[in-house]
Amino acid sequence: MILPPHLTVRGGHLHIGEHDAVDLVERFGTPLYVTDDARIRRNFRRLSGALITHYPEVRVLYAAKANGNLAILRTLASMGAGADVFSAGELALALSAGMRPDRLLFNGSSKSPSDLALAVETGVRVSVDSIDELQHLERAAGEAGTTVDIAFRVNPAIDVPTHPKIATGLATSKFGIPADEILNAYRHALAAEHINPVGIHCHIGSQILDVEPFAREVEVLIEVTRDLIDIGVDLSFIDIGGGLGIPYRRETDRAPTPEDYAGAVMPVFLRGIHELGIEPELWVEPGRWLVADSTILLARVNSVKIAHKAFANIDAGFNLLARPVMYDSYHEVVAGNKADMPAVREYTIAGPICETGDILAEDRMLPDLVAGDIIAVLDAGAYGFAMSSQYNSRPRCAEVILSGEEAALMRRAETIDDLVALMEVPPWQA
Ligand code: LLP
Repeated sequence: MILPPHLTVRGGHLHIGEHDAVDLVERFGTPLYVTDDARIRRNFRRLSGALITHYPEVRVLYAAKANGNLAILRTLASMGAGADVFSAGELALALSAGMRPDRLLFNGSSKSPSDLALAVETGVRVSVDSIDELQHLERAAGEAGTTVDIAFRVNPAIDVPTHPKIATGLATSKFGIPADEILNAYRHALAAEHINPVGIHCHIGSQILDVEPFAREVEVLIEVTRDLIDIGVDLSFIDIGGGLGIPYRRETDRAPTPEDYAGAVMPVFLRGIHELGIEPELWVEPGRWLVADSTILLARVNSVKIAHKAFANIDAGFNLLARPVMYDSYHEVVAGNKADMPAVREYTIAGPICETGDILAEDRMLPDLVAGDIIAVLDAGAYGFAMSSQYNSRPRCAEVILSGEEAALMRRAETIDDLVALMEVPPWQA
């Protein structure tokens, strides 16, 4: 298997950064998410560098939903990232990580009154998803006696080659305002006393392994911008969202590089703004590309069962990594303590959850496994822990972050006490 440079095999053990995966599980237990801080920094530099080479006014807004741990947000904040935030929680975390409010965009198609009030109070920009929402926001800003900078989210009606559950720019998606209604939305915004339309926003989907849809998206945004200029909107940013995919199947996926991505979108963007005579900032909202490959999920084999096929039953399941069951996603697996042994048998890596679908990896050639062995699930940094649950009343596991020789918890494991801590006894049971 081709491993990225921060994953190596030394002395038969998988290493992440400077650290032996076997030592990490001895120290912190399993299951365990382990993130290499240096890899996130490298990913950020690579992606932002690829874009900035074409145009200096690029702002990278990390999609905080991909992995909302404060340590990761702090790392990205220290590199100058802002964030796409989709909830009050993500907004609070991004601010507490030190991200500048003017580098945050509050996104979402269903913001509550308290979300809107918080956006107004914190002074972040808001991506508005409907004219109805605009009116609620206008009221909230009016009550606070202030003005809010907004963008509308455009639905570009672009067919995107990805899993249907994560394609967001389709004409049938719940997100955004159709391009033919967008002018009307901006007219409402121009007329509103407490709203300042300063941007335009779009996000076509996630895990996209072809750059062409991004170029088409930018074309749509430039066309809309042309009309917006005609009605007197002065745009200070164009936000093209996130979505750049990664090669989860390392041997066979052909994934575009950040340079390919920039090479596809930037000429369209630059030609467009040049023709229009404007110089807006270009905002991008990568999530997966920045964090996915920085993190592995380490789990221990509880038992091996040879039935109609060989199962390795591990202590992590879709409670901790929902992607395989939710999107049939593929994640590479490595036997962490036998990483240099020959692969001799196909194993299906099954979790501990009481559902047939609780399979993290199917029919993978691995060395002979026995109880106690360590399984590493790769590329688990995006939408991994972030989508975990306590299903089957399983406490969520710890997360560790590595920096050079150092390894530290960035979240402790939950305990059974944590599970019951928030439950209340109804008075008639007391
Ligand atoms: N911007 C917006 C408005 C988004 O909704 C998203 C992701 C992103 C940016 C970042 O997209 P990325 O660069 O990470 O592809 N749970 C799914 C992915 C859901 C993506 C949701 N929105 C998965 O595990 O594949």
